[in-house]
Amino acid sequence: MSQSVTVIGLGPMGQAMAAAYLDRGYEVTVWNRTPSRADALVARGAALAASPEEALRANQLVILSLIDYDAMYTAFKGAEEAVAGRVLVNLSSDVPEKARAAADWVAGHGGTHLTGGVLSPPPGIGSPDMSTFYSGPREAYETYRADLEVITGRTDYRGEDPGRAALMYQLNMVIFWPAMLAYWQAVALAGAHGISASEIAPYAVDNYAGMGQFIDFYAPRIDAGNHAGDVDRVSMGVASMEHVVHTNADAGVDTAFPAAVLDAFRRAAAAGRGADSFSSMVELLREPAADA
Ligand SMILES: NC(=O)c1ccc[n+]([C@@H]2O[C@H](COP(=O)([O-])OP(=O)(O)OC[C@H]3O[C@@H](n4cnc5c(N)ncnc54)[C@H](OP(=O)(O)O)[C@@H]3O)[C@@H](O)[C@H]2O)c1
Repeated sequence: MSQSVTVIGLGPMGQAMAAAYLDRGYEVTVWNRTPSRADALVARGAALAASPEEALRANQLVILSLIDYDAMYTAFKGAEEAVAGRVLVNLSSDVPEKARAAADWVAGHGGTHLTGGVLSPPPGIGSPDMSTFYSGPREAYETYRADLEVITGRTDYRGEDPGRAALMYQLNMVIFWPAMLAYWQAVALAGAHGISASEIAPYAVDNYAGMGQFIDFYAPRIDAGNHAGDVDRVSMGVASMEHVVHTNADAGVDTAFPAAVLDAFRRAAAAGRGADSFSSMVELLREPAADA
């Protein structure tokens, strides 16, 4: 457990993290490319480092919350020596390969790198209910676990591979972004008929809440290679998605997203899966489409 911490990167996430540490009585040093974003934190007692090097040297535990991993190299250019002896907890989102390369880079400069993937928007930072994936050296994770639990009360350590936490985060984003886009599509369609986002919100919430039952039902069947069409069939999905595309087209709204879903269903049917469950689309998705 540490009682002082550096936070580098003060977008909404970094600001919320630094504020959470201040709430817990930590001594907090911050640095941001645009210094004015530190104003509210400085007013609350945070120390604004004059440079990334000063921020690194201020504390052994350094939290990074940047737009991506490339921003870390940009920020630390010329300050590489100050990485030695530091534990860098990188909560910037990026791809697993970049996380692995960063772990090597930090180790090459005498520091330790923990990869993180935060499953919370800024208002959830500091909450005991929110969760963050971590991976990298277990010893560093265990040493700083209590400090990391200030950011989100739940931590999910996924092993030594520095890429694993980034992968787990990306798996969640694969679900999150298209799921939200599906909702925006429904809002656009509803709006074309004079129905507000608020009016359909309860139906959308119920719809997403029900997804858990589908996942619980299909996951063991998929793992067992069972795509029996006893509950649903790809051919039914093709017909249903055609209705979705036509309903959107008739309303005069954009159809690119539902059309892409329809295309996937049609490809599954063309591959001979029409009578199988729509879970068999997983098999279609395991390899790139022929024209991709
Ligand atoms: N917001 C969310 O809901 C959320 C949720 C989970 C995870 N995340 C992830 O958390 C990270 C931070 O999110 P955020 O919403 O706080 O992002 P953001 O508002 O885009 O902040 C990005 C930060 O990176 C800095 N930055 C960008 N390019 C830089 C460069 N070349 N050199 C130095 N600093 C640079 C920015 O500095 P300036 O202030 O000078 O521009 C800013 O401090 C992202 O990786 C994001 O994907 C966000």
